[in-house]
Amino acid sequence: KNAIIPTPRGLPIVGNGLQIPVEGTHQFFTDLAAEHPGGLFKLNMAGRHVVLVYDPDLVAEVCDESRFYKPIDPPLAHVRDFAGDGLFTARGEEEVWGQAHRILLPAFSQRSMKAYFPQMLEVAEDLVAAWSSRSDVDVTDDMTRLTLDTIALAGFGQRFKSFSRVSLHPFLQAMGNALTEAMDRTRQLPFVTGLKKRADAAYKSDISVMQETVDEVIRARRLKSDTSNDLLGLMLDAADPVTGGRLSDENIRNQVLTFLIAGHETTSGTLSFALHHLMRNPHVLAQAYAEVDRMLPGDTAATYETIMKLDVIPRILDETLRLHSPITAIGLAATTATTLGGRYPIAADQKVAVLMKPLHTHPSAWSDPDTFDIDRWLPAAKTGHHPHAYKPFGNGERACIGRQFALTEARLALALILQRFAISDPAGHRLTIKQTLTIKPQDFRLRVRARQDHE
Ligand code: HEM
Repeated sequence: KNAIIPTPRGLPIVGNGLQIPVEGTHQFFTDLAAEHPGGLFKLNMAGRHVVLVYDPDLVAEVCDESRFYKPIDPPLAHVRDFAGDGLFTARGEEEVWGQAHRILLPAFSQRSMKAYFPQMLEVAEDLVAAWSSRSDVDVTDDMTRLTLDTIALAGFGQRFKSFSRVSLHPFLQAMGNALTEAMDRTRQLPFVTGLKKRADAAYKSDISVMQETVDEVIRARRLKSDTSNDLLGLMLDAADPVTGGRLSDENIRNQVLTFLIAGHETTSGTLSFALHHLMRNPHVLAQAYAEVDRMLPGDTAATYETIMKLDVIPRILDETLRLHSPITAIGLAATTATTLGGRYPIAADQKVAVLMKPLHTHPSAWSDPDTFDIDRWLPAAKTGHHPHAYKPFGNGERACIGRQFALTEARLALALILQRFAISDPAGHRLTIKQTLTIKPQDFRLRVRARQDHE
């Protein structure tokens, strides 16, 4: 009674690889999912066969860590060219993954979020100061400045001061190029990549720019000989409680690079998408203003305690991550041969990917799935959710270590923006999406004006 996994028609050799558009990959997968209502389909991407899954019950199966693991395949295998054995791109069987995970876990506890709060506030105040002298702002770029500066300061004690630069930090240009190249290589047959000498030289030079930034961060810390307990402090000083091992210099470099990328790119996208949804949903925006005016009236200073008591803003973020999860898919592979849904055969090591948007809008788990509705996240409604229909932070032990960091930072940033500014969208922005490893709104500008008397 085995069933065949549906496969869209492909081209010889490259399979469906060439059909995948460079721009709009995310939309391509979302459309294919709509054409395959069974909850899964299979693609041949330049010779790699991947089963894409989005039915919540099937996703529950592939999220069972006794049956599926996180493989490091393209695109992550390419990201590994620069992130090495950092947490995000380390293989589960590498001892250093467990060591780094255990050493860094305390740095992501709720108590640590309280310790990072002053740094998060300092950078959020930089954003507010920059916006105070402008009326028309580039949302996506400024959210990127905010989140990059926040991870650099809270994680590594380094002030990037991105709001005093006209163009983005050179690290970002290099990172954007390198991530784009990593994604291009995912679509190419390896021999094609081998032929592209100029792209390869540019890739190597972008990787060195990123590594120089990282080396500078580590050098600055070593000079200061401070013993702060931030991410870098822990990596330099702490031993793994289980093996007693310490992280090598090479691994610390990979972790810093990983955190500079993983620690800002997704949070930036989330904040931009959140502002997009607020512009589209004036009644939710009004609720958010009402909350801020109640919790942070006038120019009351934001504290960690106030931010943790917010209710509307966190639900805006939850709902934003449902409709626009910056990481559009997570990759898994079968530990041993198995079946999905009791009928679809899956070979050992078969690659599987969970598609976020089709999962997060699956009609069996979500009513009125395309509507931005923050009331889905009220406590009473939340308990009724399918337990595997929402995975913006990934799954199991390889899930996002920075979740609380991202949510604390994003809550604070939104609260401060709404406390200080009336925001509007006179140009009637139409959402288009830019995709590298993650997605963000492209060319997204808004009008901001100081709220003088907190009407
Ligand atoms: C892993 C999402 C913010 C650090 C992941 C994964 C997802 C994710 C889906 C799993 C990827 C996979 O399975 O291949 C997000 C989202 C964020 C966010 C949506 C913001 C809204 C952050 C922040 C940090 C961070 C702020 C650091 C400060 C990491 C790391 C991993 C990871 C290190 C790898 C964990 C491991 O495998 O041990 N994230 N992330 N992320 N994230 Fe995040």
